[in-house]
Amino acid sequence: MKSQNIPGTKAKKLLERDLEVISPSYPRAYPFVMDHGKGSEIWDVDGNRFIDFASGIAVCSTGHSHPKVVEAIKNQVDNFIHISSDFYHPVWVEFSEKIASTAPFKEPAKVFLGNSGTEAVEAAIKLARAHTGRHHFIGFFGAFHGRTMGSLAFTSSKIQYRESFSPMMSGVTHVPYPDPYRPILVQAENEDYGEAVVRYIEEVVFARTVPPQETAAIMVEPILGEGGYVVPPAGFFPALRRLCDKHGILLIADEVQSGVGRTGKWWAIEHWGVEPDIVCFAKGIASGMPLGGILARASVMDWPMGAHGNTFGGNPVSCSAGLATLELIEGGFKENAAEVGEYTLDALSEIMTRHTSIGQVRGKGLMIGIEFVKDRESKIPAPDLRDRIVDKAFYNGLITLGSGKNCIRIAPPLNISQDLISEGLQMLEDAITSAEAEA
Ligand SMILES: Cc1ncc(COP(=O)(O)O)c(C=O)c1O
Repeated sequence: MKSQNIPGTKAKKLLERDLEVISPSYPRAYPFVMDHGKGSEIWDVDGNRFIDFASGIAVCSTGHSHPKVVEAIKNQVDNFIHISSDFYHPVWVEFSEKIASTAPFKEPAKVFLGNSGTEAVEAAIKLARAHTGRHHFIGFFGAFHGRTMGSLAFTSSKIQYRESFSPMMSGVTHVPYPDPYRPILVQAENEDYGEAVVRYIEEVVFARTVPPQETAAIMVEPILGEGGYVVPPAGFFPALRRLCDKHGILLIADEVQSGVGRTGKWWAIEHWGVEPDIVCFAKGIASGMPLGGILARASVMDWPMGAHGNTFGGNPVSCSAGLATLELIEGGFKENAAEVGEYTLDALSEIMTRHTSIGQVRGKGLMIGIEFVKDRESKIPAPDLRDRIVDKAFYNGLITLGSGKNCIRIAPPLNISQDLISEGLQMLEDAITSAEAEA
């Protein structure tokens, strides 16, 4: 068991100063005050060590301050830091060539860069409208796509994100995300639940409220991120692709959380053998430097000069970090995510046999969700228990984050070792045991 000196004296002082000056809108999990990190371990300002199962919300994909990423950043900073997207420079092109080579579609890809996930989604929305000349979109309940006014119109994981910000951008219609653990639509006999959701879009939404010929795109997370790390059933993506093809609708895969090797493949949608038209990426792409963007089929990214742009797009420091990140992921971290992810899922399945409050464990690679329930029969969500487990894990020395109403997400750096996973899972199980005993 960890020392009770959390938060310690230095951390407490900083928390007081933070309270005075930082926007109160940030959703803070617990009082972790970072000092430094190395790989999958981090230390707070009072010298307490933690294992990092959250990696800054799936961002530090190569671990904290990987030497190759640090070296790439330092070299670039010595050279130049910024020139603006009005001009040209090599590392922007090199990074774009590299990310384009990973595109989950056969056609050549073109790349647009910004600084965050929400900007990537905004770019996808604008490109879809510009390319198709259509107005409407389909999004999914439970999804998170960002907090700026375009992406927010799609975000529907929690009401807090939307309260007091209406009216939203018009044209977005939500349908249920295919959560096989909690289906809310009726399935036909022998129908996969993912197919049932697509049939609902076709038979209800497209027949009654949203003309498919006026629909620009369907925006979807291949695995729900903020919404609870939900993995859709096998039939979902093939059926969704067929629906898009039938009506000339673009398929946008928001891979901001699930992409860049996290699930053991470059892009999570590859697990279903389906090719999207636009892919949004950010988070893990540059190991913590701000970078986000979209990959689109070259035939789709046909907007004219001046249609969309930004000041910081193609930032050389972020692109250098991104290039180093992609090389590391390609050089073995993607495979490690698949292998260690498998090991983690197995270990969690075993932990599940000892804890009836775990309703389901699911995921791909190192994108794993644990859903907590009152009991497995009723599946009633247990959000308070989940919150207590996250809190107790922290005091045990493990950084985790909640996801959805009642899940914990496991999203460590992609190069985490099996040993650190085992150590972290022990801390997590201790937290579960202690929280269950209080229930
Ligand atoms: C799937 C997805 N899309 C978009 C975003 C928004 O990214 P950002 O917070 O960088 O704006 C997130 C962030 O969690 C996300 O998970």
